[in-house]
Amino acid sequence: MIIVMTGGTSGIGAEALNKIRENEDTIVFVGARIGNRTLPNGAKTLTLDLSSLDSVRVFAENVLENIYPHKIDLLILNAGVQADKNGGVGVDGFNLTFTVNHLSHYLLARLLLPHIAYDGKILITTSDSHDAQVIPFGPKTVDINKLAFPDNSSPKGMALYAATKLCNILTADTLHNKLLGNSNIQVIAYNPGLTGDTSLMGKQTGVMKIIVKAVRPMFRFLSLFNPMFYMNTAKNSGEILSDLALGNKKLPKGRFYASVVRGKVTFPKPGILVEDETLKKDLWTKSAKMVNLSP
Ligand SMILES: NC(=O)c1ccc[n+]([C@@H]2O[C@H](COP(=O)([O-])OP(=O)(O)OC[C@H]3O[C@@H](n4cnc5c(N)ncnc54)[C@H](OP(=O)(O)O)[C@@H]3O)[C@@H](O)[C@H]2O)c1
Repeated sequence: MIIVMTGGTSGIGAEALNKIRENEDTIVFVGARIGNRTLPNGAKTLTLDLSSLDSVRVFAENVLENIYPHKIDLLILNAGVQADKNGGVGVDGFNLTFTVNHLSHYLLARLLLPHIAYDGKILITTSDSHDAQVIPFGPKTVDINKLAFPDNSSPKGMALYAATKLCNILTADTLHNKLLGNSNIQVIAYNPGLTGDTSLMGKQTGVMKIIVKAVRPMFRFLSLFNPMFYMNTAKNSGEILSDLALGNKKLPKGRFYASVVRGKVTFPKPGILVEDETLKKDLWTKSAKMVNLSP
């Protein structure tokens, strides 16, 4: 099984990769910023910086050279950044968080789509923060131009992050619908839920690990009143990602959203904005234009 993955060097993705590699039939190509990462045996690193669209194009070409003449069985788009560190503008002129979390993954999915096996799978990591009914800072509405080219009225910080995670699930749904009836490729949008011991909110230094361990019981207590406070572990979130990707956990027929709630995978309806066909079309069309592809 040939797997291509982003975000396999840290947190949830690294745990998922460890689990995936327990299956010796897998060959995994991980797109990563630095070439000398220590990855599980059998995982090959190819350079990828999601803050640059050119880097995505080169990565896609490298993947195709490496897999030739085979197709990709599983594409896992898991990398992500939290907005505080990435509020600036990237080399392509778009907001960095928007570029890393959404636009680069959109481009990668479009470039690799023709090379995915007929009954292959695409898994995109989103977040329950796409849904303002679950996470209060989630988007109530989205203007794609304001995400790509921020001004004073654009979402910032966690709200910006949440809006880009909405873009992930909107893209997953559009792909799911486009592929329906044309191929057996399955699309999954995956929400790992709040996961404390990853680098999303800052590198996992010794101090950070102690803080996460210390606040975990308080979050567990708060989660009795609201499940959004349940703090999962990267190991559990990663193992569920791996189970969904490898088909060890299956989604109910017609569903494409898998969401971890209180440490267990559930298959709820996604947030209301995911039903907005105009928004989905707008995101797809504008994203295509931004990466110079036809819609
Ligand atoms: N943690 C949570 O509470 C939570 C909740 C819901 C959803 N999620 C989602 O889960 C996914 C994984 O996040 P995580 O929590 O495991 O965080 P993490 O430990 O920070 O992992 C993020 C991954 O993305 C990669 N990445 C970031 N910027 C990149 C770039 N410019 N080019 C290439 N790779 C890049 C990182 O690579 P490096 O190793 O080089 O940094 C790392 O492998 C993300 O999509 C996130 O939005 C997380």
